[in-house]
Amino acid sequence: MRLTCTVNGTEQLVDDVWEGESLLYVLRERMGLPGSKNACEQGECGSCTVYLDGLPVCACLVAAGQAEGREVGTVEGLAAGGELHPVQQAFLDAGAVQCGFCTPGLLVATDDLVGRALAEGRRPADAEIREALAGNLCRCTGYEKVLDAVRLAADRMAEEAR
Ligand code: FES
Ligand code: FES
Repeated sequence: MRLTCTVNGTEQLVDDVWEGESLLYVLRERMGLPGSKNACEQGECGSCTVYLDGLPVCACLVAAGQAEGREVGTVEGLAAGGELHPVQQAFLDAGAVQCGFCTPGLLVATDDLVGRALAEGRRPADAEIREALAGNLCRCTGYEKVLDAVRLAADRMAEEAR
């Protein structure tokens, strides 16, 4: 089947997509966007988190055909014009960049959380951060620096929006 969708603002057309292919597979293997990671392929770890029409989803659980005509946003779409996104910069500055598997999903989930909170004129509370990132698993280390990074990103983005 042919899949047509918009990815990070660019229209994409892919032919010969098998009906069983996941959106994650198509992004990584057919569109050359390997930022979203395939760690569990079961919807458990969050490393494949992308936006689908503005909502975060596990791309490994989305059939590619479900993205037909829709807007997909990946971690590659966060940085604009060669500048790191404030969430990316905050992760760097807070020492929260962990491995290449968990970090992309954490960045997208954080962008979503902070964006929603700031749209409501507030910063995310710690309990809210923990809940929002509960689906982004790291088996190796702690989440304290990630929490620091989310707070830092929220502060900076709130400042920028003033
Ligand atoms: S790879 Fe999709 S949730 Fe783990
Ligand atoms: S899974 Fe990435 S640092 Fe643990």
